[in-house]
Amino acid sequence: MNLDLKVRTAFTLPETIKSFSHVTAATALLLSVLLLGTLPAIAQYPDVRAHDYDSENGEEINELCAGCHGEFGQGGGGGEFPRLAGLPAKYLAKQLHQFKIKERNNMVMSMYATDREISATDLLDISIYHSQLKLTTIMPDVTPETSALEKLHLASRIFNVARYDGDVERGRLFYSKNCAKCHGVDAFGRGSTPQLTGQFTEYIRTQIGNFQAGTRTHKGMDRYIKPMTAQDIEALLAFLSVADD
Ligand code: HEC
Ligand code: HEC
Repeated sequence: MNLDLKVRTAFTLPETIKSFSHVTAATALLLSVLLLGTLPAIAQYPDVRAHDYDSENGEEINELCAGCHGEFGQGGGGGEFPRLAGLPAKYLAKQLHQFKIKERNNMVMSMYATDREISATDLLDISIYHSQLKLTTIMPDVTPETSALEKLHLASRIFNVARYDGDVERGRLFYSKNCAKCHGVDAFGRGSTPQLTGQFTEYIRTQIGNFQAGTRTHKGMDRYIKPMTAQDIEALLAFLSVADD
């Protein structure tokens, strides 16, 4: 309960400050220093680790997300809606927070990432919920006794990005030189850095474009992504599409 309050405070603070549009920037800065000064323990981003996870709440919120991201967080729309299943909770929470504060923008997703739709507590519950959903790339073994319904359930958790034509070897080389140290040698992610393989090709392409255009930013990554040529991107997408096979 205490924690909930802290998280909420962390979320509402910057909004509160922004809403006093008549105060000067200097006053706002002073105000924020004073306010934040009294709450030194509050992180800028939602703290997944300290959260008291409510799986039932996660499952309930997922009904809102499933229309686009799928019941199992498998995404859809040919990559318009990214896969969320199995992505690091800390990463997912950060993205939702960024959509909320408009640091990351997407016309569709931004309609859902609001305080009204997803409270601070909901944001943490749904991020942990999605991070724990598992997808497989192959159909698990079934026996003659496996019911049709069960098979359907198993099948809906299979997620395999279609092979994308291109120079896989060039992509592999480019990846290991420029991306592997953060996204993991196998592209399955590392710590809170998201996996790039097992994600829709078209989604990854859009995001690379966003980072290159500066509409989405991550300081530490810009110098690796910005110089990518069209050929680098094509080769990388080909490699990523088969890296999880
Ligand atoms: C109406 C469709 C729609 C609904 C409903 C929706 N989303 Fe999204 N979501 C999107 C789109 C589109 C994107 C891709 C945004 C982009 O390209 O930057 C996205 C992206 C995301 C991302 C970023 C993924 C990544 O790899 O960075 C997260 C996290 C996310 N959504 C969480 C949620 C959650 C949680 C819910 C439910 C509370 C939800 N979304 C509901 C359409 C939707
Ligand atoms: C210095 C570490 C680092 C390097 C090197 C790096 N990345 Fe990243 N990447 C990150 C982090 C951290 C994020 C999450 C950004 C955020 O929190 O918004 C990310 C996010 C991404 C995303 C968005 C994924 C999603 O689900 O929306 C893409 C695409 C991406 N990186 C591609 C690349 C490519 C391609 C390379 C190599 C050219 C690369 N990155 C190199 C750290 C790195």
